[in-house]
Amino acid sequence: MTTKTDLDSIVDSAREAFAQAATPAELENAKAQYTGKAGRITELMKGMAALSVDEKKTRGAAINSAKQAIEAALNERRQALADAELEIQLKAEALDVTLPGRVREPGGLHPVSITIERIEQIFASMGFDVTDGPEIESDWHSFTSLNNPPNHPARSMQDTFYVDINGDDGIPYNLRPHTSPMQVRYAHAHIKKFAQRVKAGETLPEIRVIVPGRTYRVDSDATHSPMFHQCEGLWLGENVSFKDLKVIFTDFCRKFFESDDLTLRFRPSFFPFTEPSAEIDIQFASGPLAGKWLEVAGSGQVHPQVVRNMGLDPERFIGFAFGMGADRLAMLRYGVNDLRLFFEGDVRFLRQFR
Ligand code: DAH
Repeated sequence: MTTKTDLDSIVDSAREAFAQAATPAELENAKAQYTGKAGRITELMKGMAALSVDEKKTRGAAINSAKQAIEAALNERRQALADAELEIQLKAEALDVTLPGRVREPGGLHPVSITIERIEQIFASMGFDVTDGPEIESDWHSFTSLNNPPNHPARSMQDTFYVDINGDDGIPYNLRPHTSPMQVRYAHAHIKKFAQRVKAGETLPEIRVIVPGRTYRVDSDATHSPMFHQCEGLWLGENVSFKDLKVIFTDFCRKFFESDDLTLRFRPSFFPFTEPSAEIDIQFASGPLAGKWLEVAGSGQVHPQVVRNMGLDPERFIGFAFGMGADRLAMLRYGVNDLRLFFEGDVRFLRQFR
């Protein structure tokens, strides 16, 4: 007959087996040896069938309490293994809150974008429309419409890139070498817009527009980039004169550079699409650039042939046009001496304009 001490030793050995189980699976295997179907406690229960009623009572109670002790030990070990598991997981997923955070710096506009926005605001305040146009242009718009026909020597001033697609005229499209083609495009759109009113006897309203945008040339050094930015201006009407160009351009420069201390000079030049033509230079009276003449734009009275190509009568309509280098204006305003800095995308440079 099994004694109480035997039950005690079964409980002891169960406790030991449970303690040695290192994983939940091992623990469940150990448990099977004691309280499973063929476990030692289960076997003892089965063996009770042969006992008398009295013996069954005492024996049953003893086996039961041994079973309870084993189950308590099992639960305790289950808990301990679960705690250990959790501990490992927590350690693995630990966050070191003492690590410095990652800074998310605010973004900002590119200096050339800031410059273009500034140009737009100033001209808009002077009653100019602001628009943009296609960068892939037809030969006619980029050159011929601007009084610069095929084989004209002036074409070499604006050597650009060509696209592998021909226009209706059989000549390949180009990446526009200047924003000037928008003069003719805008004039056409303007005439169309007001056609009904003109038919009804009204006169065509003045054209006042600026067109900023990307332009392209086969050129690359510290002051030239194959892609650069220009801003075209056109002012055309029945009662516009060179004086008006001088006034608005002077006003523009003073506002743009926030200085009344600057002088403008119109230096005779040549462009096929203007006659007469002038380069516009500015000179600051003070500051780091004081005393130097700085070229900021080409300009002139729109050539009669160009006015004709716009669909207007050059005897009635006189226009003034100008083309500024937007990158150049940005360089002058911010004191940047290498154009390439604008297009390298170095955040240490760009951050300064935020
Ligand atoms: N398109 C010229 C260039 O890129 C600049 C220019 C000169 C524009 C005179 C004009 C103008 O509108 O009247 O060099």
